[in-house]
Order: sequence, then C-alpha cells, then structure tokens
Amino acid sequence: MNCRNSSGNAMPGHIAIIMDGNGRWAQARGLPRTAGHQAGAKAVRRIVEDCVKIGVSALTLYTFSTENWARPLVEVEFIMRLLEDYARQELSELHQEGIRLRLLGRRDGLPASLLRAMDETIAQTRNNTRMTLYLALNYGGRTELIDATRAIIAANERGEIESLDKATINRYLYAPDMPAVDLVIRTGGEYRLSNFLIWQSVNAVLCSLPVLWPDFTSDDLNEGIELYRGQITSQ
Ligand code: IPE
Ligand code: IPE
Ligand code: MG
Repeated sequence: MNCRNSSGNAMPGHIAIIMDGNGRWAQARGLPRTAGHQAGAKAVRRIVEDCVKIGVSALTLYTFSTENWARPLVEVEFIMRLLEDYARQELSELHQEGIRLRLLGRRDGLPASLLRAMDETIAQTRNNTRMTLYLALNYGGRTELIDATRAIIAANERGEIESLDKATINRYLYAPDMPAVDLVIRTGGEYRLSNFLIWQSVNAVLCSLPVLWPDFTSDDLNEGIELYRGQITSQ
C-alpha cells in the first residue's frame, strides 16, 4: 500500500516493527531486563505519535511472540502487566488521536485481565480511521497460518470455500482487512524475521537498525522510511 505524503514523497502505508533490544539496553546499564521493557513501552508511545503525525495508516508492533513464552516467568508476567497498563493508560490518548487499536495473535494463554483491558480499548476506538495500531501479541506467523488453515477446513466442511487462493487465505488471517506490509523495521541490529508476519511481508522492504528499541527515535523511523524510498524508486 505504497502512498505519497503532502510533499509528494513515497510513504510506506503500513510499517511493521520488530521492537528488539530491550534486554541489551537494560544489561548495558546494569539494570534488570524488566527495566528495558519499561523503557521500551515509553518508546512505543513516542513512535505511535510519530507515525500518526506523518500519516502512516497502519502500524504493527511485535509485542510478544509465541516463542517468548519460553522466557523466565517473572519476565513474562512483567510484560503482561506492562501491556495491561498500556491498554488502560493509553486509551484516551489513542482515541483522541483517532487511532484504532487491534490485536493480532492467539487469545488463548493471555491473562483474562489483559484481554479485558485490550478489548475495552479496542471497542472504544473501533470507529477511528486516522491510523490502525495492530499489537502483535501472542503472535507467531506459523501459528497464524495454522489457525487460518483450521478455519478454512471448517469452512470448507460447511461448503463455504469455492476456491483456495491468496484471497481465501487472507480472509482467514487474524486481521483480514490488514493491508500488506510495506516496511519492516527491526531494531537491535539483527536480520531475523523471528516468525513475524511471514505471509503479509512477502513484498516488504526490510530495514535492520542497530539502535536498541528503548533508544528508538523519530530519526531512526525516518532512516527506515528513507531506506524504503530508496528501494521503491530503484525498483
Ligand atoms: C524485545 O526485546 C522485547 C520482547 C521480545 C518482548 P528483548 O527482550 O528480546 O531484548 P534483547 O534482544 O534480549 O536485547
Ligand atoms: C522478536 O524478538 C519478538 C518481539 C520483538 C516481540 P526476540 O528477541 O524474541 O526474537 P529472537 O529471539 O531474536 O528471534
Ligand atoms: Mg531479543
């Protein structure tokens, strides 16, 4: 969904970010990993604001992967609480900014109180149209394809599947109306996709930046967008 901003420059309509490096950020300061996640949540606030301002229409943040359950229980519980706080504290801000919140991932396994807080924010923001913020939470690209396949088999048994093509798969993903990803930014300097949006990112531009997620600023976002422009215009 490549589009143009008011100055006529190419803009990624959908940016997806692998927010990596919280643990390393904390370690470098002699702090527990949880402090890195706390600092990471602040970076989320900044970047959501930036994306709205520059006119991105969809932003997906990789918040917790299906693989992240393997981390120590205290870390997992801390992240879940942080997310619940985020949903409660950011509600009015998101709504004021015209942002629609959606979740992307398996609900099973997530704490009930977290889901309640998220669902409330999702319901209140559902008619907002300025930008959609997708939180990939208990998300895995392979799990998403398994869940889609299961749903397609069930629909087929009800006689609802006429043909199997890209559009059919799209219809059974967690967010069928989500636009294709234009730009994937990974912070923390690694070049892995780590099971993120494997179906939706087939034509995306990939940008790996060395900055650790809690230090991510508007300048880093602009660097990603510039890289995207370079790739698009050289196609
Ligand atoms: C990303 O930062 C946040 C989550 C996966 C929840 P990490 O916690 O993976 O940070 P590093 O990679 O260990 O530095
Ligand atoms: C990817 O980061 C997942 C999130 C940012 C939520 P990880 O740190 O979990 O990924 P790996 O372990 O480097 O693949
Ligand atoms: Mg990591």
